[in-house]
Order: sequence, then C-alpha cells, then structure tokens
Amino acid sequence: MSDEGPELEAQLTEQDYFRPPTDFVGQANVTDPDIYERFDENYPEAFEEYAELLDWDERWDQVLDDSNPPFYEWFVGGELNASYNCIDRHLDERKNQAAFIWEGTDADERETITYQDLYNRVNEMAAVLRGVGVEEDDVVTCHLPMLPALPVTMLSCARIGAPHSEVFAGFSAQALADRIDDADSDVVVTVDGYYRRGEFLNHKEKCDEALEQAESDVDTVLLWSRHDELHEDVEISDDDPYVLVDDLLHEHERERVEPVSRDAEDPLFLMYTSGTTGQPKGCQHRTGGYLSYVTATSKYVLDIKPEDTYWCAADIGWITGHSYIVYGPLSLGTTSVMYEDTPDHPHKGRIWEMAERYDVDIFHTSPTAVRMFMKWGEEYVEDYDFDFRHMTTVGEPIQPEAWLWYYKYIGDEDAVIVDTWWQTETGGHLITNLPALADMKPGSAGKPCPGVQPAIYGDDGEPLEAASGKAGNLVIEKPWPGMLQTVYGNDERFIDEYWRDFSDTDSDDAEDWVYKAGDGAVHGQDGYFRILGRLDDVMNVAGHRLGTMELESAVSEVQDVAEAAVAAREDAEKGEVPDVYVVLREGIEASDEVRDRIITSVEDEIGKFARPANIIFCDDLPKTRSGKIMRRLLENISNDEDLGDTTTLRDPSVAEQIREQVHGD
Ligand code: PRX
Repeated sequence: MSDEGPELEAQLTEQDYFRPPTDFVGQANVTDPDIYERFDENYPEAFEEYAELLDWDERWDQVLDDSNPPFYEWFVGGELNASYNCIDRHLDERKNQAAFIWEGTDADERETITYQDLYNRVNEMAAVLRGVGVEEDDVVTCHLPMLPALPVTMLSCARIGAPHSEVFAGFSAQALADRIDDADSDVVVTVDGYYRRGEFLNHKEKCDEALEQAESDVDTVLLWSRHDELHEDVEISDDDPYVLVDDLLHEHERERVEPVSRDAEDPLFLMYTSGTTGQPKGCQHRTGGYLSYVTATSKYVLDIKPEDTYWCAADIGWITGHSYIVYGPLSLGTTSVMYEDTPDHPHKGRIWEMAERYDVDIFHTSPTAVRMFMKWGEEYVEDYDFDFRHMTTVGEPIQPEAWLWYYKYIGDEDAVIVDTWWQTETGGHLITNLPALADMKPGSAGKPCPGVQPAIYGDDGEPLEAASGKAGNLVIEKPWPGMLQTVYGNDERFIDEYWRDFSDTDSDDAEDWVYKAGDGAVHGQDGYFRILGRLDDVMNVAGHRLGTMELESAVSEVQDVAEAAVAAREDAEKGEVPDVYVVLREGIEASDEVRDRIITSVEDEIGKFARPANIIFCDDLPKTRSGKIMRRLLENISNDEDLGDTTTLRDPSVAEQIREQVHGD
C-alpha cells in the first residue's frame, strides 16, 4: 500500500461503512428504497416487475405455482425466447451499437460485434445447428473458451430451444466426457484451439479424447476455427465426427431462423457444478424465471444501462459468465468487453490498458483477481486512465484489505462496489446491496436482494433469531425466479442436496421447504450478511468450485494410491487450495514420480486448475472407530491449527504424526 493506505485503514476501523458516491446515486437505476418493502409485501407478485423487463410472446397467467414444492414454476403459461430478448428486440434502437468488443491474445486482434452482427451470426449458427439435426429440447454440449463463438453458440441454441451445456474450456477430456454422457448429447460444439499466455493450445485434442472416453455416441462435433482457417497443428481424419462450422456457416449464409417460442418453464441451459459427491450435478435453469431474474439484477445490482461499456472479466464457462456476460447484459442491450488469455499477458497492465481503451464504466471481477492485482502492485494500474462508476466482486469472501485496495486503486475512491453472493444454483445474485440504497461494508455481501428471504439456521435445523450476529447455515426460505429447476435427470438428488436438511420433505406446503446453500454465514445486527464459506465438502479454489470427493476420486485413479483425502488449505492469493494426503499401497515408495502421476491424474480427470498444492504421503489417515476419514483434522493440520478433540479417533497418534511430518514439531 502507498502512503495513504493507513489513512484508509483507519477510516475503516472508525467507520465500517462507505457511502455510495453522490454522483453514482444521482444516476442509479434504482433509488427508491421502497423496493424492498414492495417485494416483501407483495411477494411473489412483485417479481412481475422483473418479467416485465422482457418481451414475451405470451404473457403468464400465474407468477408462481408452489403447489408441488420444491418443483416451483415461475411465470406459468408465459412464452418467450431468450435469443430474441438478447438480440432481436434491440435492433430497432441499436442495431449498430456494439454488443461485444472482443480482444484476442494479441491486443491488435480486435473485433467489434454489433447487435446486427450478432443477429446475423446467431441466425446462421442456429441454421447450422438445425442442419446437423439439433431439435428443440436436445441438449448441446459446448466446450468453448472466451471467443465470440461461445456466446454466439449459446444464443443460437436458445434460438431453436435447444438447452446448451457449456463446459468450461479448462476442464479435461474426462470431465467433458462425463458431462456429455450425463446430458446424453448427440451434438458437441468445440474449437480447434485458443491462446493462453500467447501459446496456441490444441483444444480439439481434448474433444478427441472425450469422444473416446464417453459412453454416448456423439453424432456430430461442430468445430469452430480460432482463425480464418483450421490451425496447422490441428487435423481431422475421415472417420471423425467433426464438421467445420465455417463451411456450414457458408452454406447457411444469410439464413434466418425464427426464434422458437419457449414455455417459461422450458429449460434454457444446464451448468454442471461440484457437489458433495464425486459426480457433478447438472443444474437445470428455466427460460422465463432465469432470464427475468438475471435481467433485473443486471439492471438493479450491476446498474447496467444500454449506453454503458460493461466488463465482467469472468469466463463464460462458469455461471457468472452465463448470467452476467451473456444473458443479463445482452437482454439490457449494453456493450460488453470480452478478451482471450490471462490478465498478465502480454503484461500485468493488460486489464487496465483495455479499461482505458474502451472507457469501461462497470467492472466485475473476483476477490482472487483483486488479491493478484494487489500482489502485482498499484504501479501496474497507475499508468492507465480509466474511470469505473461501479465495480463488483463475486465468488468468494473478500478480505477487507483486498476490498480497500480495490476501492482505492481501481475505483479511485469514487466507484461503488457490490459484493455479490450467489451460486450456480441460484441463477443470479441473492445477497448484495442495491448500490444506491445501502452503504458498502468491506467483507460483507450486505442485504438480501428484493423478495429474497435468507436466514441462518443452526445444525439442529432451527432458525437462529434474525440479525443475531451468530454463525450458522445459510438458507433461503422462499423461492425466487432465478433458482434451478432441478438436477438434470435426477429429481431425487435435487431434493437430497438442497432441501432435505432443513425442510419437511413430506409436506406439500411450500412454507415447509427451505433451500440449503451449503455456506456458513452470519446475519449481523445491521441486517448485513457476511458469508464465511462452504460448510460441505466443496472447496473454492481461486473462485472455482471443486468437490473434495471429485479430487479424491481423481487421486485414487492412480494405481499406487491406497487411500486419499483432500483438505482445503487457506491461501493468501487463491482463497483455498487443495492439499492431498495420500497413503500408498504396500511396497510402493513415495517418490517424485508417484507425485507427478497423482498431479497428472487430477489434471486429466478434472483439469489443470484443480492441481493439488501439496501432496503429503502418510502411513495412515486419521479415522474414527467406524473407519471414517476425519477430514476436519487434516484441514486443521493443513492450516496449522490446533487439532482439538481427537478422542474419537481409532488411533489418535496418526493425526499427531502427520502434523509433525507437515510442520516438523
Ligand atoms: O461459497 C460461496 C461462494 O461461491 C459458492 C458458489 O460457487 P459457484 O456455484 O461456482 O458460483 C460462483 C459465482 C456465483 C458459494 O456457495 N461465493 C459466491 N459468491 C460469494 C461467495 N462467498 C463469499 N462472498 C461472495 N460474494
């Protein structure tokens, strides 16, 4: 921190809250504090205000049907198309306005895609999808990086009513294969490659392997080209199911595809996410409720206006990108910035250089990125002339120190910051301040969004008093339009994962059903919620959600491994990182080679982003008398915390030995 740093910190101690700047308040999309009361008193009908932000082919007859909890239905009887709402409806007013400004790895490679361009591309790609046999309700699996092809493909699927299931490009072949199988996709969309730190990555190779590993028979893989033609390193053989998208686009040039009217409850997309078991869950999102919710929260929380230049520096392959790069911002008709590669390529000022070049108004990133920028130092920021009006953080708790740095050096102390708590399952923001209506409090997500009713429950299933200041399980007591419909193909799992713990599952009264978020939180006396992190076996590594079971099963794939347990270690930069405790089979010696095999297995089964931080070889793992591995103790060891009560262990010396091995005392 520079000289003024301590001043700011002092300010924080004296006064925990920061006022939104007057200039911001003067122009904000929502300034009427009655919004909260309106939604509370008029729940669920008030959510009509959200749906009315969209164009519907058929208006709904009922806002919420809660007669069969937890299978809630929103805007029942309504019909609409998401692609129409994100593109066609803007053409009269802003066909030549940029929808996306995209930069490649090399900043000289720039593309401006106007709403009219997007319309043309999406129509042609929709014709391509139809041409290869995709029908309404077929799930199309995509494995695309941050190229314009990604939003184009998603919106083309939406246009013809085919739910997309985008798999983050960093996921491995095996992870892709698992998701193709679970969604039973006949058609997959990928690209020949993309750039990371300036190097071309052959991405098609991953799809080749996935096709071998998948049980389903994929009929067609639509292969985009990163450049005008296929990269020289990428080959297609005659018996591959690959078809070049560019050739097909040429065949369907200038074709128009009528947007299909979808029932409000028809699924728009699947997004797989990690849970407490090894198998990722396909969160299924509906068309009407989801689109209404992300459009409204983009408007009220992110304060997006059509004339803004907005930049959410997340990857579209995760829910943040789906909701707040593609569907919400486009539905509002704004201009979004997108780029390929990493924030330090070709230099550590890349983000701020782009912010200046496009005069970005609204900026959206993760606490991990903020910590990284902070580590690099403000000198990388100071050279550039940009002026954000609004900034967001998402995905992890932000430490007050990182918040202050973001506020000072990125926001110049005159931008508003919203800390948005939500999840893949929730579709959009649930806890965060409406920026003109509440003061900012570093480290606190803030108040619930209008009409959203979070509460804190004890482990005994009883609600704690509101604003008690005590930590407990974060739950949501009433349904909201952005919520997932179910876990794809597995209603039972949907109930087990999200509802069983705090609901009376025999009841058909919605009041008895309570959604479990899986996070710990505190509801402070000021009414603000502070999120503490996951309470289940889910880790948050640099904002990427990872299941410990998934990691353990990847490690156990290595033949030499007899047993493995994963613990989350706190990390100053990434939030959490996985430590893997491994017991090898009889007769196998710990070696760098075994270590490498474990790392490779995690990279192959999940992806490079899930790489373990440490691999600790042990003789045994701490277990209860019934043989259950005590992960909590391993977590204590990883974080150098007191081991606490070990009397329930079969052999208390095991944990002590591991602790000595790791910390040497
Ligand atoms: O633990 C919470 C954390 O991220 C989890 C959801 O991860 P995912 O489904 O990948 O979605 C991330 C983008 C919304 C949550 O259960 N999390 C998310 N936002 C915050 C957060 N933790 C603290 N503060 C936040 N603002």
